[in-house]
Amino acid sequence: MNLNTRIDSAVARAVAIGQSGVAPAQLSSALSYATAPGGARIRPTILISVALACGDDQPDLTDAAAAALELIHCASLVHDDLPCFDNANIRRGKASVHRAFSEPLAVLTGDSLIVLAFETLARAATEAPDRAMKLVLALAQQTGMPGGICAGQGWESETNIDLSAYHRTKTGALFIAATQMGALASGQEPDPWFELGARIGEAFQVADDLRDALYDVETLGKPVGQDDLHGRPNAVAQLGMDGAVRRLKDILSGAIASIPSCPGEAMLAEMVRKQAERLTPVVEPVNAKG
Ligand code: IPE
Ligand code: IPE
Ligand code: MG
Ligand code: MG
Repeated sequence: MNLNTRIDSAVARAVAIGQSGVAPAQLSSALSYATAPGGARIRPTILISVALACGDDQPDLTDAAAAALELIHCASLVHDDLPCFDNANIRRGKASVHRAFSEPLAVLTGDSLIVLAFETLARAATEAPDRAMKLVLALAQQTGMPGGICAGQGWESETNIDLSAYHRTKTGALFIAATQMGALASGQEPDPWFELGARIGEAFQVADDLRDALYDVETLGKPVGQDDLHGRPNAVAQLGMDGAVRRLKDILSGAIASIPSCPGEAMLAEMVRKQAERLTPVVEPVNAKG
């Protein structure tokens, strides 16, 4: 099975748990709407790649971990698009959840997906309960306070922003979860995998800043120019276009150099290169804004 199919079926299986039996129909359908079709699925791709590089001897647990991480990510996007955050009408090329359903249902969709993520890990605990507990802890730390994406969003309500904490928590956290959870699912220690996740997260943030400045809404499938609009600190404003592209390349070579030694080291380096190529925007794209 290729990686994308593996991820999509793991996510679909996890979502189906939340839709079984007698359930409110609209909320049920919003769970599917928010998770499929997915976006780039980059976090679960990294998670499974790391697990494979470490042996992937408990594939069902790896699948549960990948699904749990992607559910948290999807939940964060549903909440992020709400009027009280970014007020975005479009996500992944279609109406955002609160526009397609309603604000109350979008709040509940995000809540349900977060709970479902941890339920998915708990249900997968039968084979290797010790690994599953560590996965729960790793995912919780990168999701909540003080080091997870909740903190990341929380920084946007502060007047004095600690920029490095802001980026590490808002974007880096779920990439750190990806590398650490991949290692944990294969029975490895998470600490050596922190740096790779943090570096990929940093690169992703710069790439996202570039795309936000360069592309149009049709290309990106979500609103553009958001960093300027919300006055958010970003790599393009700080370094200029060429500087941001150079910075992206530097971070990515650092990421490759930080891959811990493991049986699938070369395969992982190739995966990072492939993702990097996909992420790096062409600086003068055909669809560039004016
Ligand atoms: C968007 O993440 C949110 C950010 C952290 C910038 P992605 O670009 O990975 O979103 P999808 O899952 O592919 O839609
Ligand atoms: C969303 O961040 C990421 C999280 C909620 C953690 P942004 O608001 O910067 O990303 P987009 O542009 O909406 O995807
Ligand atoms: Mg936001
Ligand atoms: Mg947003």
